[in-house]
Amino acid sequence: MRKIQNVYRILSNTSVNGTYFRLVLDASSLAKAVKPGQFIQIKVADGFEPLFRRPFSVFRAQNGKVEIFYEPVGKGSQMLASRKKGESLDILGPLGKAFTVPSKSVKQIVFVAGGIGVAPFMMFSDLLKSHKAEKVLLYGGRTREHTFSLAEFKKNGVKTFIATDDGSVGVKGRVSELFSKIKVAPTTMIYACGPKPMMAAVQRFVLANGLRGEASMEEIMACGLGACLGCSIPTTKGYQTVCHDGPVFDLEDLVF
Ligand SMILES: Cc1cc2nc3c(=O)[nH]c(=O)nc-3n(C[C@H](O)[C@H](O)[C@H](O)COP(=O)(O)OP(=O)(O)OC[C@H]3O[C@@H](n4cnc5c(N)ncnc54)[C@H](O)[C@@H]3O)c2cc1C
Ligand code: FES
Repeated sequence: MRKIQNVYRILSNTSVNGTYFRLVLDASSLAKAVKPGQFIQIKVADGFEPLFRRPFSVFRAQNGKVEIFYEPVGKGSQMLASRKKGESLDILGPLGKAFTVPSKSVKQIVFVAGGIGVAPFMMFSDLLKSHKAEKVLLYGGRTREHTFSLAEFKKNGVKTFIATDDGSVGVKGRVSELFSKIKVAPTTMIYACGPKPMMAAVQRFVLANGLRGEASMEEIMACGLGACLGCSIPTTKGYQTVCHDGPVFDLEDLVF
């Protein structure tokens, strides 16, 4: 059986712009195994505090390294931000269901991301670099501080569009202001990750226009393995766990 728990060395753990952090791990077995949309559970500190691991999407996996892009929002993620180069982290993963790789018939691939929800799309855009479809990122952040340098997406051939609540970067308003960039056609595929109201707006757009899409959902997790049912969410197929049945779901199946 494939080993999913391992200890990996921290190569770097640095603040990006005062709001977000990038953590790079020396993790070649994980880098080979993980697929875009899957996540890992990190034991952020030694000992029992905090008791549960914290889930993070894989932002990048290449050259034997795995990278996490994260926002310290509470105790666990702040403890993670204090971890230093050369230390080790106990990791469970890769976990969960990955994004569906679009077929060759798809002509436009749209990533819709809110804030830190951009994290799983970097690795996905790395994988889709050679896909012939037009690739677009619609990115929404609260303010300039919550926007992320999109240069690496551009390098992967992704066209980027930004909206901020205060208009400090890009269009003023929600990410839904950018939906006009989506081609309403059966050859369009949409992938979303961000706050629930944003995902609900993407779902409304997808359903109203007969499009196809997937969303990566977030819930507070304990086991991360489908055992405790603590991360269950309502879907049209009944309650499903984000950690095991997801985190990626068909957009049309989600109940907001
Ligand atoms: C599948 C998955 C992938 C994720 N990927 C990333 C990522 O790539 N980068 C990143 O920064 N974060 C990601 N998260 C969210 C991250 O797990 C939480 O921010 C983290 O667990 C918070 O722990 P904490 O101890 O710092 O905060 P806590 O002190 O536990 O909580 C602080 C605040 O954050 C809220 N919160 C806690 N956990 C979550 C959660 N899972 N989702 C939403 N709100 C939460 C709490 O309700 C509270 O308001 C992901 C979550 C999931 C489920
Ligand atoms: S966290 Fe236990 S089932 Fe998902």
